[in-house]
Amino acid sequence: MSKDWHPSTRAVHAGTRRSQYGEVSEAVFLTQGFVYDSAEQAEARFQALGEDEFIYARYGNPTVRMFEDRIADLLGYEDCFACTSGMAAVSGALTALVKAGDHVVASRALFGSCLYVLEDVLARFGVEITLIDGRDNAAWDAAIRPDTRLVFFESISNPTLEIVDIRHVVKAAHAVGALVLADDAMATPVFSYAQACGADIAIVSTTKHIDGQGRMLGGAICGPRELIRGPIEAYMKHTGGAMNPFTAWTHLKALETMNLRVRAQAQTAHELAEALSGHPMIEAVRYPTHAAHPQQALALAQAPAGGTVIAFEVKGGKEACFRFLNALKVITISNNFADAKSIATHPATTTHQRLPQEQKDILGISPGLVRLSAGLEHVDDLIADLMQALTV
Ligand SMILES: Cc1ncc(COP(=O)(O)O)c(C=O)c1O
Repeated sequence: MSKDWHPSTRAVHAGTRRSQYGEVSEAVFLTQGFVYDSAEQAEARFQALGEDEFIYARYGNPTVRMFEDRIADLLGYEDCFACTSGMAAVSGALTALVKAGDHVVASRALFGSCLYVLEDVLARFGVEITLIDGRDNAAWDAAIRPDTRLVFFESISNPTLEIVDIRHVVKAAHAVGALVLADDAMATPVFSYAQACGADIAIVSTTKHIDGQGRMLGGAICGPRELIRGPIEAYMKHTGGAMNPFTAWTHLKALETMNLRVRAQAQTAHELAEALSGHPMIEAVRYPTHAAHPQQALALAQAPAGGTVIAFEVKGGKEACFRFLNALKVITISNNFADAKSIATHPATTTHQRLPQEQKDILGISPGLVRLSAGLEHVDDLIADLMQALTV
């Protein structure tokens, strides 16, 4: 494995472990347990695991290990722990790293389940949470204190596509010894900049761009070996959040095409934002690296593309927005993103329904807001679909 290889090459080859049969395609080791040559060997493995030694799939598995090594390599981190879902990764990383009395600062523009983990779970165990406007560097500076243990944000927020200036936040956090955790779900593993900007840990919902075809749930926590194989692995293996080997295998196969898929979807997302900008039925269009985004310069300073999702507001509120959604023919109404099929979501009534109205107003989750995940269909068909639905 050469460090000079490009990410697209590493996404195909990094972490490969071959069995004695020399298979080309990665093997799926669909096994819960492992046999030992002797009782002494079993005892020794339970004392300390050597390289390529496993005892139970909740603790580790060769197929899962291949996936972990490949993702860590791709995102530029020393190690990775693969989890059952993106939320298992978010909640596991956060819970493993804090204790009662710690202070956490987070961007308020968070996915609802992430907010639940912070405000309803960690707060219940005596962790103090401060939520701020993640776009505002001065707000990070003001909120981070000497007792801040970690900071957390989505690199690109779901669904309003707010951008965090990661380098600035890292500097402020590291000045007090706090860890920086970036939820990289929307940034995509292809355009991820968390490690380059100094984030200690990147958390990925592998459900999204790695699976990319609407099948498997998964998550990954990437970071320094000391944390991943220390408190994070300990927490995850004892609480049961390890990825299953079949998911890891489908993810390994999906990684072979991820670079092509995500680049095509990002290009389509940009073209959809361009096509919708200035449309008389559309209030505001957002795609991080598009000129219509208020933080375009920051987005471009951090990555060449802004992921595969755009957001826009249909004029006329919920009624007009539902008319538009119901008229779509190619694009499906659903609540996931990063699928090969383009998906339109109405966050206010689905993914973010639980948020109090006041928080929806602050975050800009309005009745007309649509989150649109660009798929792999021909862009002309998607534009034609959007235009016909806007005339209904
Ligand atoms: C920003 C963000 N983080 C985490 C998750 C959770 O991922 P999963 O659905 O794989 O648990 C999501 C899911 O939509 C998300 O949008």
